[in-house]
Amino acid sequence: MLPDSLIRALLLPLLAVSMAAIACLPARGASGDQALGAYLAGECVACHLPSGRQVGGIPAIVGWPQSAFIAVMQAYAARERDHALMQAVAAKFTADELAALAAYFGSLKPP
Ligand code: HEC
Repeated sequence: MLPDSLIRALLLPLLAVSMAAIACLPARGASGDQALGAYLAGECVACHLPSGRQVGGIPAIVGWPQSAFIAVMQAYAARERDHALMQAVAAKFTADELAALAAYFGSLKPP
């Protein structure tokens, strides 16, 4: 696991950047829109490598079935799955955005 201070140091600027980015987005993205997913993933890939290589305590999230990916993100957002950082990350997205992230990460090949 990463120390809390490092997680906070990484997450807070990322949150600020992503809030600014989301404010500039068109009103909605189509369900499962890979291009939108790639855009939104900018926040995720500081921790989860798009190569699918695992670093530190951060799991790989590429190549998953989209439904499994969405289910995990919803479980974090609903606080059914425990992890303060991922709960905060997951709770920000609409269903369309989660589908877009699932489509994007699902399209990447594990190493
Ligand atoms: C600051 C680092 C960080 C950022 C940014 C981050 N994550 Fe995570 N993520 C983690 C950590 C650490 C875990 C492991 C949490 C746990 O133990 O439950 C995790 C877990 C996950 C899991 C579950 C993995 C598994 O094997 O069960 C998914 C899916 C996920 N993150 C998706 C995302 C997405 C999508 C984004 C961007 C919107 C994102 N994460 C942003 C650190 C991060």
